Amino acid sequence: MDSLKEEVLSRRTFAIISHPDAGKTTLTEKLLLFGGAIRDAGTVKGKKTGKYATSDWMEIEKQRGISVTSSVMQFDYQGFQVNILDTPGHQDFSEDTYRTLMAVDSAVMIVDAAKGIEAQTIKLFKVCRMRGIPIFTFINKLDRQGKPPLELLAELEEVLGIESFPMNWPIGMGKEFFGIYDRYYHRIEQFRADGEDRYLPLNEEGELMKEHPIQQSSLYDQMLEEVLLLDEAGNEFSKERVQNGTLTPVFFGSALTNFGVQTFLETYLQFAPAPQPRQSDVGEIDPTGDVFSGFVFKIQANMNPAHRDRIAFVRICSGKFERGMNVTLSRTGKSMKLSQSTQFLADDRSTVNEAVSGDIIGLYDTGTYQIGDTLVGGKDLFHFEKLPQFTPELFMKVSAKNVMKQKSFHKGVQQLVQEGAIQLYKTVRTEEYILGAVGQLQFEVFEHRMNKEYHSEVRMEPMGSKIALWIKNEKDVDESLSTSRNLLVKDRYDRLLFLFENDFASRWFQEKNPNIELYNLME
Ligand code: G4P
Repeated sequence: MDSLKEEVLSRRTFAIISHPDAGKTTLTEKLLLFGGAIRDAGTVKGKKTGKYATSDWMEIEKQRGISVTSSVMQFDYQGFQVNILDTPGHQDFSEDTYRTLMAVDSAVMIVDAAKGIEAQTIKLFKVCRMRGIPIFTFINKLDRQGKPPLELLAELEEVLGIESFPMNWPIGMGKEFFGIYDRYYHRIEQFRADGEDRYLPLNEEGELMKEHPIQQSSLYDQMLEEVLLLDEAGNEFSKERVQNGTLTPVFFGSALTNFGVQTFLETYLQFAPAPQPRQSDVGEIDPTGDVFSGFVFKIQANMNPAHRDRIAFVRICSGKFERGMNVTLSRTGKSMKLSQSTQFLADDRSTVNEAVSGDIIGLYDTGTYQIGDTLVGGKDLFHFEKLPQFTPELFMKVSAKNVMKQKSFHKGVQQLVQEGAIQLYKTVRTEEYILGAVGQLQFEVFEHRMNKEYHSEVRMEPMGSKIALWIKNEKDVDESLSTSRNLLVKDRYDRLLFLFENDFASRWFQEKNPNIELYNLME
């Protein structure tokens, strides 16, 4: 095998999806500790230490005590190069969160055992499923009393509609947590035990090889009964189904006490896919191909206040990135030298000299890049498949506070929209600006940046949440159909859509106007 291919096949690029407080930061930290990427816990999120508060971009983050930025973390483990893409887990997440999922090959879903599947997780899960990417589930906080494991499993299948295969099964929980019965490694891993005592091997029949006091416990019997049930009535394990995203392997553990994390990591690395081919307008691009290519999935402004820079995050899809190489931006045909590049590691940034498919690099950007842009190293240009546009749920009317400053207002709005920070709509008749977002935070970031970067104070008028439905047969629609309950607007590509007040309004509209075909962008 040539060395490029070998390197590509060693990459595992994933994001962690979860509801806030499920334990994403804690798990990430433990993974980084195993990978030797950090030495102490508490380095990942500056939430409590105020580590990130140095940049003016981070003001919002500081004020709200949340992580706006999603960084990229890398480490080596057992011959694999692991790339973790962080997705903000806060309620106020944004389109960035969704787009990050466009750049990974698999996802790890963390579920709090006491809470089960929560709202945020459902949204992110849907995006993963839309892309057919494999999802690995880690059920966390077993050191506390949570829902019964069978109930959690049923919830997973019912709420998310994905089949599951528990790789291990808890023996007790909370104060009575004894450990996990590992169906994959045929052993019991004890919760409060170190060294050789930690693992108790099982025989072919799945029973303990050596006698142990736990066998006298009713918790043990209960676990055996449940495992028997899983063996007989549960799903069968299938690597293929894991890799096409229709079966999720489930792991139980406790990130905080570092229990089950290593087992999870090692099993994950065996079944998670290496970088996958990407669709483009010239067919699939082979990740082990020689010619460099990649796409921009995220642009972040002002990461460093001293430079007022923007960084374009690029997912490499083929070939090798070398610092100083020439690439062409497919959208404009413009050729450029990539000399300023960055690789990410926790909260530290360092210069990257080489990277391959599956890796993420950051390019300094002075306004050249847009979300979804393709970069190609060779002479034959092509475009990667368009990134999906996510249906916004929240809307806001926006105008310039100072009518004399229309020019900077329009410039700012256009640039931020192009960058993908927010979506823009215009009312059909009056051409008023309406902003759309998937999370409230996007509005705040918009306002902040309009002010700081474009010196334009904006007036924002909340319209609340709306249901956006696009129109297939546009010629059958005219302004007379537009009301406050179903506002007719145009998106930035001049496509018509209605913003409905709620579900009821959209159903009512459909009943009155059965000839008008509406569709949701995401489906
Ligand atoms: P997030 O990034 O998904 O938002 O979650 P984070 O890791 O910050 O964890 C949220 C809270 O849950 C933290 O407590 C964390 O210590 C706790 N936690 C994470 N994993 C486990 C676990 O396995 N068991 C238990 N019992 N708790 C866990 P906090 O009090 O909010 O913060 P902190 O003061 O402990 O940092």
